[in-house]
Amino acid sequence: VDLFVRGSGGNTTTTMMYGIMHEDINNSGDGGIYAELIQNRAFQATEEYPVSLDAWSAVNGAKLSVKQLGKPLSTALPNSLNVVPGSGKSGFANSGFWGIDVKVQRYTGSFYVKGSYSGRFTASLQSNLTGETFGAVDIVSRSVSDEWVQHEFTLVPRKAAPNSNNTFAITFDASGTKNGSLDFNLISLFPPTYKNRPNGMRVDLMEAIAELNPKFFRLPGGNMLEGLTTKTWWKWNETIGPLKDRPGMAGVWGYQLTTGLGLVEYMQWCDDLNMEPIVAVWDGLALDGTFIAEADLGPYIQSALDELEFLTGDVHTKWGAVRASLGHPKPWTVKYVEIGNEDWLAGRPTAYDSYKEYRFQMFLDAFTKKYPKIQVIASPSVFDDMVIPAPAAGDSHSYLTPDGFVQAFGMFDHLTKGNLTLIGEYAAVHPNGGIDWSGDLQPWPWWGGAVSEAIFLIGAERNSDRVIGATYAPGLKNLNRWQWAVTLMQHAADPALTTRSVSWYMLRLMGKHVITETLPVATDANFGPLYYVAGNSDKGTTILKAAVYNTTAPVPVSLQLECYKKGTTATLTVLTGPQNPYGYNDPWTQANVVKETTTTLKADDNGTFSFSLPQLSVAVLETSGK
Ligand code: AHR
Repeated sequence: VDLFVRGSGGNTTTTMMYGIMHEDINNSGDGGIYAELIQNRAFQATEEYPVSLDAWSAVNGAKLSVKQLGKPLSTALPNSLNVVPGSGKSGFANSGFWGIDVKVQRYTGSFYVKGSYSGRFTASLQSNLTGETFGAVDIVSRSVSDEWVQHEFTLVPRKAAPNSNNTFAITFDASGTKNGSLDFNLISLFPPTYKNRPNGMRVDLMEAIAELNPKFFRLPGGNMLEGLTTKTWWKWNETIGPLKDRPGMAGVWGYQLTTGLGLVEYMQWCDDLNMEPIVAVWDGLALDGTFIAEADLGPYIQSALDELEFLTGDVHTKWGAVRASLGHPKPWTVKYVEIGNEDWLAGRPTAYDSYKEYRFQMFLDAFTKKYPKIQVIASPSVFDDMVIPAPAAGDSHSYLTPDGFVQAFGMFDHLTKGNLTLIGEYAAVHPNGGIDWSGDLQPWPWWGGAVSEAIFLIGAERNSDRVIGATYAPGLKNLNRWQWAVTLMQHAADPALTTRSVSWYMLRLMGKHVITETLPVATDANFGPLYYVAGNSDKGTTILKAAVYNTTAPVPVSLQLECYKKGTTATLTVLTGPQNPYGYNDPWTQANVVKETTTTLKADDNGTFSFSLPQLSVAVLETSGK
């Protein structure tokens, strides 16, 4: 294939082509990137998920029960753990989120106690298999009979555990108690976190995300925002402030959420990874298909405006002052707000029609009036039978087969300037050949799927003056409990199981080479089996991104650059996968099936770079400069 890349005449592109989204699915938040090690730390419960002693067990004959005391820790956390001690030193243990990783590092812990106890508490980390203690610390009791008193501690194990089958325990001496039992709540333990933030994120997972060079963060994405019912949506104002004031919420993926990972923590991800926030606000639709009537929508619109004021208002505004009181006087900048999630999936004729008829327009009007500079994004796009009213943009979600993604290569060519579109979720989830949503998803991202995703993304990059950006979804899957198989990464308590999928490798390559201005490419060849986009970077280099799908022989490429200057070299990075297109990165073996080769190319006297790309490959060529 002969490609002639012109020196000008393309488009200025989006500044944030590749991003991430997060919702708590597959224990990707609690038990995932949120670094809290204690599961069910505050006995949070909802109508959907009754209170339980999940993950807790008695130590040395103590008796455990969950109680609702007349004087709870807070109105948000009404349940607590009552411990009737056994004889000697006894208490309770937590098995973490299917284990606890124990290293010689600093763990930061805290718990609240109510009840008179003179003596010491012991906080310890030990093997669940052998009982061996890896580290313990004594905490002098300050507890009193009728108050909740917080006890904080740090614990540095003297020895690393050989595996993650460990528990965390708190024990105390029965003889020091006065009234026969003690009450505990909000029992928390954190390892070192990313950038050492209190209440922060797991280091290995944040580092893996950072390697992707993400430019935006859709927060919170997905069904979690919607909630199971119109009473249990993601209420942003219940996810902020001290942990003892966060009631948690009924997660939509089969488990209760702590919301310890809340709105402020999301914004801190943006700060830490230098990402542009795309803040999704609840728009009156719940997953059960019910929605808020037009006459009742006002308070929900106000809540969304308040959320924006909380994030961006100065300290003299009502909600800006609340943010400042939580230790964040400096407002964040928010340029994008998305109204809801997947309203187009909400069932017809009622729920989706209500979005088109009044819900979206009412939110759009309110935001345009109060925040005219913010780009409002509708949760459907023009691809979902929605006419997006100006000046809004749309959001398109694609969960397809590999063939489906290749067929969608030209999808964004037809967008007009007025149809700015976010690709708020995408992933290859089904194999070619007939399995659809009535069948299972693939177990993991697979190489053939990753190449097809690259082709879809190349199609988007060709139109990146009309595409805001793209994010794979979902991002994470805890190997112990998950609801959605195909995710960008997998993880468990043991960081050795953290797995970058084949799609992650493809995305790292695509995200590393940032095109800031596309360039037209002249050729006699049609797209397929080679798909490509060319452009300049703001480093003065020229970039070609390409992928090959559906060929029996390698594709020879001859690439000529109009702006070529003698002596320019180029680096060609090619990703190839296993022979079997269904090959994947297996968390249990940790073998990476994606092979990366990098070569330096010299142009011939005509300024032409020659190379060939094999079947199912993704490649980026970047010149050394013009
Ligand atoms: O990413 C998984 C789910 O897929 C999201 O929650 C939802 O928005 C989409 O249907």
